[in-house]
Amino acid sequence: MVQAKTWILTKHFEGFPKNSDFELKLQELPEPKDGEVLLEAVFLSVDPYMRPFSRVRMHEGDVMIGTQVAKVIQSKNPAFPVGSHVVSRCGWRTHAVCDGTDLIPIMPEWPQDVPLSLALGAIGMPGLTAVYGIEEVLGLKEGETLLVNAAAGAVGSLVGQIAKIKGCKVVGSAGTDAKVAFLKELGFDEAFNYKTASSLEDVLKKASPEGYDCFFENVGGASSAVALQQMKNFGRIAVCGSISVYNDTTPQTGPFPHLTMIFKQLKMEGFMQSRWEHKHPETLKRLMAWVKEGKLQCREHVTKGFENMPAAFMGMLQGDNIGKAVVAV
Ligand SMILES: NC(=O)c1ccc[n+]([C@@H]2O[C@H](COP(=O)([O-])OP(=O)(O)OC[C@H]3O[C@@H](n4cnc5c(N)ncnc54)[C@H](OP(=O)(O)O)[C@@H]3O)[C@@H](O)[C@H]2O)c1
Repeated sequence: MVQAKTWILTKHFEGFPKNSDFELKLQELPEPKDGEVLLEAVFLSVDPYMRPFSRVRMHEGDVMIGTQVAKVIQSKNPAFPVGSHVVSRCGWRTHAVCDGTDLIPIMPEWPQDVPLSLALGAIGMPGLTAVYGIEEVLGLKEGETLLVNAAAGAVGSLVGQIAKIKGCKVVGSAGTDAKVAFLKELGFDEAFNYKTASSLEDVLKKASPEGYDCFFENVGGASSAVALQQMKNFGRIAVCGSISVYNDTTPQTGPFPHLTMIFKQLKMEGFMQSRWEHKHPETLKRLMAWVKEGKLQCREHVTKGFENMPAAFMGMLQGDNIGKAVVAV
């Protein structure tokens, strides 16, 4: 009999999450039946979506939602032999018994020298998000100028690098000087600290006086309205995330973007990466190739210990991470 450690959402978040919203609980797991496997978590992801999705997809008392890279430690399903690794959406838990239906095997040609944790980052959901936002939503073209915010994070750091691969000028914003230095290392043409910039409008104008063709929006809120005013006519905006409002207790209001959108004839589209699930295998192969060719640097912010899941999650929400935030069990 295996005991799983699990992190439960005891109470729906009100404002910024607190330690008391989580509880560590033990759960006895049954032996795997025919067709089932027993998984042991190796790396767990902490992602911004967990904050808004917890409200709509979870009840108090549920195990926190989330994705992990897990090792198969017992198997009664020949598709998932003992010792193989999978990506599983079984939440914040050290062990799980599941049938294979929702498991994604790690691609068989995964190279030895590429960490498996990247299956939660550059060669996983954040990488897919960056590619689809750029290619399917923005239709970014060589020579164009792209703005991305939360640029030193999991998605943003990949967006900037992929835009450089495509021959674009890239401007990124992030919340510390160390993050700005990281963006320069990655090859961003311009990068600035939005927390210390005296005027967002001025810094955006200085970084690209001629304006922006594309905006990969991760942050939302008030800064968004300022950025929209710096778009070129017929600019395109991919609304990927809105992290600046996820912890609000009362919704933010205005300024409203409609007149700017009309005068500049902007096109704005929200998206979720899951829309292109049918393309995931091919896209993951392309991401892996860029990693192997050294075209994508994949920085990770690793927190050690399953016990530290809530701290890692809250740390990511407040900007502790450079690159992808993951927990190593
Ligand atoms: N649509 C989709 O399918 C999809 C998929 C994945 C992610 N997303 C979204 O993409 C965005 C980035 O996700 P990620 O996984 O790459 O997270 P991440 O950027 O690695 O981590 C979150 C970052 O957000 C920044 N942040 C937090 N509060 C902020 C605020 N008030 N204003 C500006 N920046 C703030 C922090 O960096 P700073 O130090 O720079 O503030 C923090 O490091 C999120 O909005 C997420 O919801 C969407």
